[in-house]
Amino acid sequence: MNIILVGAQWGDEGKGKIVDILAKDADYIVRYQGGNNAGHTVVAGNKEYIFHLIPSGILHKGKICCIGNGVVIDPAILLKELRDLRFAGINLTNRLKISSLAHVILPYHKILDQLRETKRAHKIGTTGRGIGPCYADKTIRCGIRMVDLLNSGVLRDKLKDNLKEKNEIFKKVYKHPGFNFSRIYKEYLNYGRIFSSYICNTQRLLNSAIGEKKDILFEGAQGTFLDIDFGTYPFVTSSSATAGGACIGSGVSPVRINKVIGVAKAYTTRVGEGPFPAEFPSKFAKVIRDKGNEFGATTGRPRRCGWFDSVMVKEAVLLNGISELAITKIDVLEGLKTIKICTAYKYKGKLFREFPADLQALKNSKPVYEEMAGWDKTVPNLCHYQKLHPNVNKYLKKLQDILNAKISIVSVGSSREDTIFLD
Ligand code: IMP
Repeated sequence: MNIILVGAQWGDEGKGKIVDILAKDADYIVRYQGGNNAGHTVVAGNKEYIFHLIPSGILHKGKICCIGNGVVIDPAILLKELRDLRFAGINLTNRLKISSLAHVILPYHKILDQLRETKRAHKIGTTGRGIGPCYADKTIRCGIRMVDLLNSGVLRDKLKDNLKEKNEIFKKVYKHPGFNFSRIYKEYLNYGRIFSSYICNTQRLLNSAIGEKKDILFEGAQGTFLDIDFGTYPFVTSSSATAGGACIGSGVSPVRINKVIGVAKAYTTRVGEGPFPAEFPSKFAKVIRDKGNEFGATTGRPRRCGWFDSVMVKEAVLLNGISELAITKIDVLEGLKTIKICTAYKYKGKLFREFPADLQALKNSKPVYEEMAGWDKTVPNLCHYQKLHPNVNKYLKKLQDILNAKISIVSVGSSREDTIFLD
């Protein structure tokens, strides 16, 4: 079975934990878009791991993890992740495969990302990791790919060509001194040497694996509403975070995909700027932020928090073809008297039950809520772990009915064990 796992909100839905759980039934786990703007947290045993580039499935012995062609790679971060995993005693031999076609983040991408952000009147609130500029170079066809790091002549020519143009822009537009060719060249050639045994044709590898009836899990980063096309543009990331991105970012045909599973938090969070209709007032946001530890795994920024927005998640179900959902962090809501679900938006006297494409409508709309009774303990009796509080069941049933997708996994805590599977 080949499964795509996607975020149904604005990222940080808890995909890392769900990937880790599903990975035990997969043979291959593939990251297909984004870069080290993502931070996937997995708690295994009593240790917490945060992955930015390597698929969260790496913690399972014997599984093969791929970084697909759709990912943008900062080699320094990848190297650190490899070293940390080795230090933790995780054997990577023949288990990590990096697409030769994946684009490389260079020092000038990171600086440009940060400089652009300071100049913008309406800031996006990027992670400053160079993601946007790297994808921009890919699209305007001057990007450097992993395979280029293996060929000194090609790397020299491409880097020289890039720096000729970019250094002029840095100096003239941003009053920045620009970048030295030799330093970057040496550093990145060295990365090529280090990663040479991992770089390969991952699209061929994955298709051969499918031919041998192996199971593949595609691990999405960010979330549907950060997707470059379907997200709240321009407050989005620069890649295709929806299910379609899994095919483009891995070289596996859509006809090979069997199922799409969406991950959504029991409430909503967002990092960075952009509209957020169901956002909590700041005092209540702080309560939930502290309770749910809602701080970015990559940048440590406080996440904005709000009620579950079913208008958004319903749109995500449609766009991704989600048939099953995992609902995470439901325990964070315990202790509240009432729980709200946003079921529509009101804008200029009109009721919107569907997600508006017009950002102005979204920005200026007021949420319409349905209220439900809260609960004290999500799992009232630890001896009957799979039994949720009746009000939790009512909440989940309501979400299921509105979203028209089956909720099959409920996460009630950060560890692997705090997971309830519903039939
Ligand atoms: P960029 O991806 O660094 O260009 O950032 C663009 C927007 O996406 C910003 O609002 C970021 O906060 C947001 N973003 C990027 N990656 C993630 C993620 O993994 N989780 C949540 N938000 C993200």
